[in-house]
Amino acid sequence: MDQAKGLRDIAKTDILARRKTRMPSPEKQFPRVIAVTSGKGGVGKTNIVGNLAVAMSRQGMRVVIIDADVGLANIDIVFNLRPQYTLRHVISGEKTLEEIMIQTRHGIRIIPGGSGFAGLTQLNEGQKLTLLGEFEALADQADIILVDTGAGISSNVLYFNAASDECIVISTTEPTSITDAYAMMKVMSREYQTRYFKLIVNMTESEKDAKRVFASLSNALDKFLKDVVLAYLGHIPFDRHLQQAVQKRSLLLDQTPDAAAARAMETIASVILNQEKSGRSQGNLTFFMNKVFQTAT
Ligand SMILES: Nc1ncnc2c1ncn2[C@@H]1O[C@H](COP(=O)(O)OP(=O)(O)OP(=O)(O)O)[C@@H](O)[C@H]1O
Ligand SMILES: [Mg+2]
Repeated sequence: MDQAKGLRDIAKTDILARRKTRMPSPEKQFPRVIAVTSGKGGVGKTNIVGNLAVAMSRQGMRVVIIDADVGLANIDIVFNLRPQYTLRHVISGEKTLEEIMIQTRHGIRIIPGGSGFAGLTQLNEGQKLTLLGEFEALADQADIILVDTGAGISSNVLYFNAASDECIVISTTEPTSITDAYAMMKVMSREYQTRYFKLIVNMTESEKDAKRVFASLSNALDKFLKDVVLAYLGHIPFDRHLQQAVQKRSLLLDQTPDAAAARAMETIASVILNQEKSGRSQGNLTFFMNKVFQTAT
């Protein structure tokens, strides 16, 4: 037998086998990537991400949080963690994604973004490929990926929103926060053709308050951005227990599970999990990261 041909055949089978393992099978479930964002800062994104993550993991979901806030990244604070490495170390090749992820005692895994995400636009092809490969491996290990974005309409926030399957906008009842939430949706729809958003109203005094915020945003969208749809996910009351939990560098769901805001977040987590994954043609993480890169350039 031709030995060279034999080797070629072995190599071919090997490549095919490797391709096969990377190829998504039709029934395979890919994680839902959900961005939690806002126009105005300080409206509760990080606390909402942290508590929703806990509620979802208690419901059996494997949850990963991406801390994509390049400003004052602080998901580590609410989980009382001190990350040593960030995505920057993955990009530079010093660490793997697996090595920088921190596992909380709930079993939630956190990817500390740090300044890593700020430099996404400057990555060379090799670095992009490294990052893509790392994220691809994550696909098998998560059901839900929550992205804690920064506030505002900086490009960094926008491309994470654009790349995610779903985009949850947080607003309080304050007029400035509502205006900024509208501005965020306007930019997302103009620049990235995002048509579908979900709303959580935080720090409310009553459900009526929250519905008023939803109505005013929906009316503005109806008038000026007809093709954009906003769905109401729920509201979270103003609750001093949440502030007390933050003071203790802890999460409300751990600290005071019976608090009104804790119960509201549990309900919202169930609502999200009961919803169908929003339609996306190619649901995989490589696709997600590719989209991040595309929108970032
Ligand atoms: N439901 C609530 N009831 C009372 N206080 C709240 C509530 N939600 C948030 N807060 C307060 O708002 C503060 C800011 O929350 P958080 O850090 O989660 O906001 P953020 O949107 O992530 O901010 P940033 O834009 O700076 O990242 C909390 O430390 C807490 O004091
Ligand atoms: Mg935050």
